[in-house]
Amino acid sequence: MKIIRTISELQNELSQLRAEGKSIGFVPTMGALHQGHASLIKRAVAENGAAVASVFVNPTQFNDKNDLKNYPRNLQADCELLESIGTAIVFAPEVEEMYPEPDTRVFSFAPLDTVMEGACRAGHFNGVAQIVSKLFYAVNPDRAYFGEKDFQQLAIIRRMVRDLNIPVEIIGCPIVRENDGLALSSRNMLLTDEERQRALTISRTLFASVKFAEENTLAATKAFVEDEINATSGLKLEYFQIVDGNTLQEIKEWDDSDYIVGCIALFCGNIRLIDNIKYKEVK
Ligand code: PAF
Repeated sequence: MKIIRTISELQNELSQLRAEGKSIGFVPTMGALHQGHASLIKRAVAENGAAVASVFVNPTQFNDKNDLKNYPRNLQADCELLESIGTAIVFAPEVEEMYPEPDTRVFSFAPLDTVMEGACRAGHFNGVAQIVSKLFYAVNPDRAYFGEKDFQQLAIIRRMVRDLNIPVEIIGCPIVRENDGLALSSRNMLLTDEERQRALTISRTLFASVKFAEENTLAATKAFVEDEINATSGLKLEYFQIVDGNTLQEIKEWDDSDYIVGCIALFCGNIRLIDNIKYKEVK
């Protein structure tokens, strides 16, 4: 496995792989890798001639300086995991390589980016679009893999590649959970044992809400989740919205869409966590 720091070196390596007839599967990450990331890389390895992962904590997508400062970083452990699952190239640039000058591009993906994470984290998706577009231009992958845990991000990236005509297939991959239900996240390692216990309420409540939804209205299901979270000390709900899975806009009735997802964001102590659950998906 090659660890590469510059775009020019990356592009040299990639052109050699392409000359060998290999397709490129790409997994962009911010490091602090876990089995959720591993599932994306494994799929990229299985479906392409070569898998490339990037490890870059992108400053432009953090609207909170402390969050950026405290974001977990461990390149060595990340590389060990990436190598063990067959990654061909790790691209781990410094900030100056990705942003030799400040990126002044302003993206709008309205109405996808005006709700939920977009409403709570001003500028977040602009930063995501800045870095993911730069990475796509640098890597020029055939396929790129994103986790459904960041459900809104996935919808926005699909929209971005359509808007910018970037020739890449975007592949969404299912959420990976711990055995006890907690959705894997790099932020989980910042939770104390006690906070982690409390965080289990999130997946437990979401799973219970699927059962609840079978016999109750959408409004009652939303209230069920909100009440459960609000009743758990140490959890502070930011939002729970039941949305159309394509438009990300809130819906009122179960019959309003064939694709319905409940998205939640909350603070567990000082750590912000997100999760989501599908109520309906007609394929
Ligand atoms: O999901 C993430 O880890 C990040 O938002 C991404 C896509 C790597 C962009 O920095």
